[in-house]
Amino acid sequence: MKQETQVEILKELMRQVDEGKNIDAGVQYRMPMTSYVCPDIAAKEWDMFFQNHPQLIGLSGELPEPGSFLTIDDFGIPVLATRDNEGNFRAFLNACRHRGVRVSQEERGRKNVFTCPFHFWSYSNSGDLVAIPNEDHFGEIDKSCNGLIELPAVERDGLLWVHPQPDGQLDVDELLGAELAEELGTYGLGKLVRGGTKTINMNLNWKLSNDTFGETYHFGKLHKNTLGKIFPGNNLHLELFGRHHRFVTASQTLGEFKDIPEADWNIHVGAAFVLYYLFPNITFIVGNGSCTIVKMYPDPDNPGRSTSQVFAYYAQEVLDMEDAAKAEGSLEEVTSENVYDPEKRGGPSIETTMEVFNSTIEKEDYLMGELQQKSAETGLLKHVTFGRNEPALHHFHSTFADVLGMPPLEKVEA
Ligand code: FES
Ligand SMILES: [Fe+2]
Repeated sequence: MKQETQVEILKELMRQVDEGKNIDAGVQYRMPMTSYVCPDIAAKEWDMFFQNHPQLIGLSGELPEPGSFLTIDDFGIPVLATRDNEGNFRAFLNACRHRGVRVSQEERGRKNVFTCPFHFWSYSNSGDLVAIPNEDHFGEIDKSCNGLIELPAVERDGLLWVHPQPDGQLDVDELLGAELAEELGTYGLGKLVRGGTKTINMNLNWKLSNDTFGETYHFGKLHKNTLGKIFPGNNLHLELFGRHHRFVTASQTLGEFKDIPEADWNIHVGAAFVLYYLFPNITFIVGNGSCTIVKMYPDPDNPGRSTSQVFAYYAQEVLDMEDAAKAEGSLEEVTSENVYDPEKRGGPSIETTMEVFNSTIEKEDYLMGELQQKSAETGLLKHVTFGRNEPALHHFHSTFADVLGMPPLEKVEA
C-alpha cells in the first residue's frame, strides 16, 4: 500500500478513536433473512459466484516449483492445478479423458506424470496425454486432442486465479480494477510460502461467515477476551473498489504512532488490521511479511452449511527466524491465554494465526453465525438490520443483490 494511503487511513482512524466515533454511512439497511436460507438464491449464487466466476485459489507459494501440483474441490468443478516443467501455472479439469475418473486424488505434492487409477492413462503436468496402456487392444486414440481439459489460469503478483469453465473469461485487471490490482501488487505476495491451513465446516450460510469480517462493532463485545484485546473495534476505514473493498481497523497501540514521524508509519506493524474483501468469497488479511486468506464456500446441497478454508502464508525469513528462536528455546508456545496479550505475544506466527482462527473466528464469530442461521431457518425473523456503522455489510449484500439481479437492500427511514 502506498505510504500516503497508509498515513491517510491511520489519521482517519486516530480521529475516530480520539473523537469516540465510528465510521458513519449515514443510513441503515434492511435485508430479508431469506438471503441465508432460500434454496433458489443459493442455487443462483452457486451458479453465478462459484461455478461460473473466476476463483482465487491461493498464493503462488502453493506451487513452489516446477512439478508442484494441488487439487481443489471447493466450487463444484474438480481442478488439478500444476506448475509445469517450464514453471507455468496451469489448471485442468481433474477428469480423465477415458471415462472421467479423477486423475489425481492427492491434495498436493510434486509429480511430472499423473496416472489415472482406473486404467492407468497418464498425463504430463502440462496436461498432455502421454501414455495409454494396451493401446493396441484399446484402439487408436489421437493423443494430441485427448489431453486434460484446460481451464483458464493466471498467475499475477503472487495470486493464482482459475476460471472453472474452459471458455470462461479471466481478466484479472478487469476483475480487480487497476487501482486494487496495483495495491495488491505492492505486497510481494509471490515471495510468501505456505504455512498453516485450517478447514472450518459449520452450520451457517457462507454469507454469514463472510459477514463476520464486515464490521468492527462486535470486536470489543463478542471478542472482548480475545481479538478485542488487540483490536478494540468501533473504528473503521473502508474503501470500495467496485465489488471489492479494503477494511482497516486500529490496533490498541495506534496512539503510539503519534510520536513517530509520519514518513515512518507502517500500517502493518502495530498500527492496524488490514483486510481486503475480494468478491465474492475471499477475505484477504495482509500483515508484515504475512498474508492469511479465508475462502468461503457454500454447501451446494444445503444453504445452511458452508466451509471456510484458511491458508496462512509467511515470508521465508520470518519462518527461518522463528525456527532459529525455537531451537534456542526463546520462543514461547502459543496458548489461548497468551496469544491475545500484547505483553506476552511473540510465539510462532503459524501457531498464532491458527489460534486466532480457533478461538476468535471459529468459537466466537462462526458460533454467532450458526445462531443467526437457526433464527433464519425458523422463518419467523423476517429481516436483519445493518447499522450506519456497518457499511462493509451494506457493500457485501448490495453487491450480491445487484449481481444476482435481485431488488436492492431496503433503506430504513428514521
Ligand atoms: S478412466 Fe482413467 S484410465 Fe480409464
Ligand atoms: Fe469477529
